[in-house]
Amino acid sequence: MKKITIAIDGFSSCGKSTMAKDLAREIGYIYIDSGAMYRAVTLYCLRHGLFHGDEVDTDRLKTALPHIDIAFKLNPETGKPQTYLDGALVEDDIRTLAVSSKVSIVAALGFVREAMVSLQQQMGREKGIVMDGRDIGTTVFPDAELKIFVTASPEIRAQRRYDELQAKGEKGSYEEILENVKERDRIDTSRAVSPLRKADDAIELDNSHMTISEQKEWLAARFRKAA
Ligand code: C5P
Repeated sequence: MKKITIAIDGFSSCGKSTMAKDLAREIGYIYIDSGAMYRAVTLYCLRHGLFHGDEVDTDRLKTALPHIDIAFKLNPETGKPQTYLDGALVEDDIRTLAVSSKVSIVAALGFVREAMVSLQQQMGREKGIVMDGRDIGTTVFPDAELKIFVTASPEIRAQRRYDELQAKGEKGSYEEILENVKERDRIDTSRAVSPLRKADDAIELDNSHMTISEQKEWLAARFRKAA
């Protein structure tokens, strides 16, 4: 069967990555979490003192960016992809509230987007890839054969994120997380470069009231139609 490109976009914490990861594993495609790449750059900025409040030192980041090494490797035990920054495993470090509250600022910088999009396009050269993010169907792979746009209410997304962080023993109140979800929606949809929007040819999925297995089924059916 010929391999295709699958773009899954949508708002933060709406379960895109769970769906995308599961589908990729089932059909033997590569899965790339593009948000993890923006998170890794943000973690780099935090660790190297590139933030001054909500401002990023863009001069220093421009110099550093070509040398920042972001990679994904499969966890040999779980088979799940994990993010590495400059050779070190950072999968948990990039998911903290500290990173979440700054990532949209970094992701709004045009030169950061340019570098990430170019890396993402290289990763998808051979097709056979499921990538999730905000601009995959509109900018990274505008010719993707299957495009999905996922939505869910901010309250439901905040609750899912809260449950996830609680399960990991991370701090953060529901209200704080809801605020973060709404603020990221605002920045992601209103930024000048590649704002979050549904591609004209994307299929919309509101999963507010769907279980994970219902979503999986829905996506698998869309894939069978498109492949
Ligand atoms: O998907 P996730 O919530 O981990 O993404 C973190 C942040 O990275 C988003 O809130 C958004 O600001 C940014 N992002 C982006 N473009 C992508 C993926 C993520 O701007 N393709």
